[in-house]
Amino acid sequence: MAGGSDAVETATLSCAKCGKPAHLQCPKCVELKLPREGAAFCSQDCFKASWSSHKSVHLKAKLSSPASENPSEQNSASPNDGWLYCLRKGQARTPKLPHFDWTGQLRPYPISKRRPVPAHIDQPDWATDGIPKIEPNSDLQHVVEIKTPDQIERMRETCRIAREVLDAAARVIRPGITTDEIDAVVHEATIAAGGYPSPLNYHFFPKSCCTSVNEVICHGIPDARKLEDGDIVNVDVTVYYKGVHGDLNETFFVGNVDEASQRLVQCTYECLEKAIAMVKPGVRFREIGEVINRHASMSGFSVVKSYCGHGIGELFHCAPNIPHYARNKAVGVMKAGQTFTIEPMINSGVWRDRMWPDGWTAVTADGKRSAQFEHTLLVTDTGVEVLTARLPSSPKMFPWLNP
Ligand code: MF3
Ligand code: CO
Ligand code: CO
Repeated sequence: MAGGSDAVETATLSCAKCGKPAHLQCPKCVELKLPREGAAFCSQDCFKASWSSHKSVHLKAKLSSPASENPSEQNSASPNDGWLYCLRKGQARTPKLPHFDWTGQLRPYPISKRRPVPAHIDQPDWATDGIPKIEPNSDLQHVVEIKTPDQIERMRETCRIAREVLDAAARVIRPGITTDEIDAVVHEATIAAGGYPSPLNYHFFPKSCCTSVNEVICHGIPDARKLEDGDIVNVDVTVYYKGVHGDLNETFFVGNVDEASQRLVQCTYECLEKAIAMVKPGVRFREIGEVINRHASMSGFSVVKSYCGHGIGELFHCAPNIPHYARNKAVGVMKAGQTFTIEPMINSGVWRDRMWPDGWTAVTADGKRSAQFEHTLLVTDTGVEVLTARLPSSPKMFPWLNP
């Protein structure tokens, strides 16, 4: 950490910690050309004592100008200024395609600049610096919360917005559209509804939704690649509104898709339907994976193990953890008032995943295709309410639903 390095000499300002005359300047702020006010200190002691809160200034500055940080990774004079490849989990950009042992045909494309969120939109706690603060240390990582009627009502509203946002994205999917253009639709629709597009800035995720094409399992970053006839693309939307989250995704066909991919996507849809049909008070969370695995393997497909469903509410990701594979060790029993997602990722080849150099994109190890569907659910006294359920207005995207 730069906190280990010493503050540098400067002309007199007042110390950001104690207000005394300050002759030292934070070296990182100097390097990033940030304002000297608020980054000046009277002594190394005051500098070090301020470090844990002061350092967020650097992150904030990097996030708001991602095209000007590390000279070895950046080239602000590049012709595709603002269109760079993502590195280091969204914290850096590069003008060149990174070297990687790509598992299939798909490659990352440059990503556009961050889309701004207007100030009147209520933000989750990671919005300013990319770091969730309450989530990692919350008791709700261990205890499955029973939502109050007020929380449930807010979840219904937020999940409905998330559904409408995903439907807006679904309507623009066609060969030739870029995943970045889909992201723009998600971003604008979320803001128009008064919501914050939650993937944006969450652990530095640079965009407002995830778009996962062909062999991408999940967490694909919207980029400049045009969708091609025959592709499959998952769009995963999460909205933060009235202090709670709603999370859902669907996998769409782009133009004419081969029969094997159609079977994969339909089977994945059915896996989620069968899992939802089990949800009611008293059922063990670990049983969900048994049902999903049975249906997937019956069709010759495999189940991803590295990414799971999750509790959701005021926090984006919390207890319970919901594996989608068989013989999992998930603890606990469903109770009325709990909210969580089920989001199986089913592969046409091996279950194993790999990570792209961007630190987010999970792809199949063998480069074969993967599909996913996700809903946010509420356990009721008698069974389940699908909070992100399709609406009468939802576009008819799936042939098996509208034969
Ligand atoms: N929406 C994803 C989920 O289903 C999470 C995306 S987190 C992001 O849990 F940062 F990648 F966007
Ligand atoms: Co989710
Ligand atoms: Co999601």
